[in-house]
Amino acid sequence: MSAIPKLFVTAATGQLGRGVIGALREHVPAAAIVAGVREASLDTPAVAALREQGIEVRVADYTQPATLANAFEGIDRLLLISGNDIGHRVPQHRHVIDAAKAAGVTLLAYTSILHADTSPLFLAEEHRDTEQALIASGVPYVLLRNGWYTEVFTWRLPAALASGVLAGASGEGRTSSAARADYARAAAVVLATEGHAGQVYELAGDAGFTLGELAALVRKVTGKPIVYHDMAPAAFRDASVEQGVPEPFARILSDTDAGVAQGALFDTSGTLSRLIGRPTTPYQDTIGAFLTTPSDGDGNTGHG
Ligand SMILES: NC(=O)c1ccc[n+]([C@@H]2O[C@H](COP(=O)([O-])OP(=O)(O)OC[C@H]3O[C@@H](n4cnc5c(N)ncnc54)[C@H](OP(=O)(O)O)[C@@H]3O)[C@@H](O)[C@H]2O)c1
Repeated sequence: MSAIPKLFVTAATGQLGRGVIGALREHVPAAAIVAGVREASLDTPAVAALREQGIEVRVADYTQPATLANAFEGIDRLLLISGNDIGHRVPQHRHVIDAAKAAGVTLLAYTSILHADTSPLFLAEEHRDTEQALIASGVPYVLLRNGWYTEVFTWRLPAALASGVLAGASGEGRTSSAARADYARAAAVVLATEGHAGQVYELAGDAGFTLGELAALVRKVTGKPIVYHDMAPAAFRDASVEQGVPEPFARILSDTDAGVAQGALFDTSGTLSRLIGRPTTPYQDTIGAFLTTPSDGDGNTGHG
């Protein structure tokens, strides 16, 4: 390994990837960072912004193994940010793991899902399979089991504000979410500092909230009479479809809410705040910023 390890971040044009690169810049010079992007995104402002920072950009498409072989040449540590093509992610992630192994990468960190090994969530299945493939590969690994981004909840707010009803199916279940930037910072720490090989980090916000509490926060910030309406998961799914949410996404939403009711996205370990060296961003701050400057909302679709 060279004196300063060469660090590779996949999906560097995405919201998490951009955050990781920003956080990495606080640890290492730009020359130590390589950003992986899809060929299709090469001419975008996100890639131009990476290059302006002096960061090398290489094409690394999870569906194109040849690009990965070239991309990982000379790389010491790699962050694999999970893809967003739900249902097709395991073979894509396997391509990355195989190429990393062939390139002699000495550490592969993967952004998984909170409590992946026991999670009842549908979304956990691909993460569980990827984790197993990574462990079986023999490449030294770190599992970044990310909880929910608080930003994910903002997608529900426009409809709630319009109707006065925040609908869901998570009952009194609490979600220990944190800002996306908190998870980005944790990934950067793991990539840029020593001693993380073999670790499984359950990453979540310091405090959890129910959807009822979220509705109360929205009421407080906006002054509008928003209430939380708890539904059975199937009824919530059907109601979401009726409101125009695509059926596959409505299924994931109701499955996730049902999992939250069972505590699937709740965690009190404090691992994320310990890794980043400060408390996680309170959900009130992230939601409050969205409500007071709606154009800052990222339109996140809420998949994990
Ligand atoms: N924990 C949570 O609450 C939560 C919420 C949402 C998502 N997630 C997961 O976390 C990941 C990162 O989140 P995010 O907010 O950064 O998502 P995002 O902004 O949607 O970014 C997704 C990134 O994945 C890249 N990508 C997609 N397919 C790829 C492929 N075949 N090869 C290489 N790159 C590919 C995209 O590249 P382009 O720019 O070229 O499209 C983009 O950079 C998501 O992909 C998803 O797995 C977690």
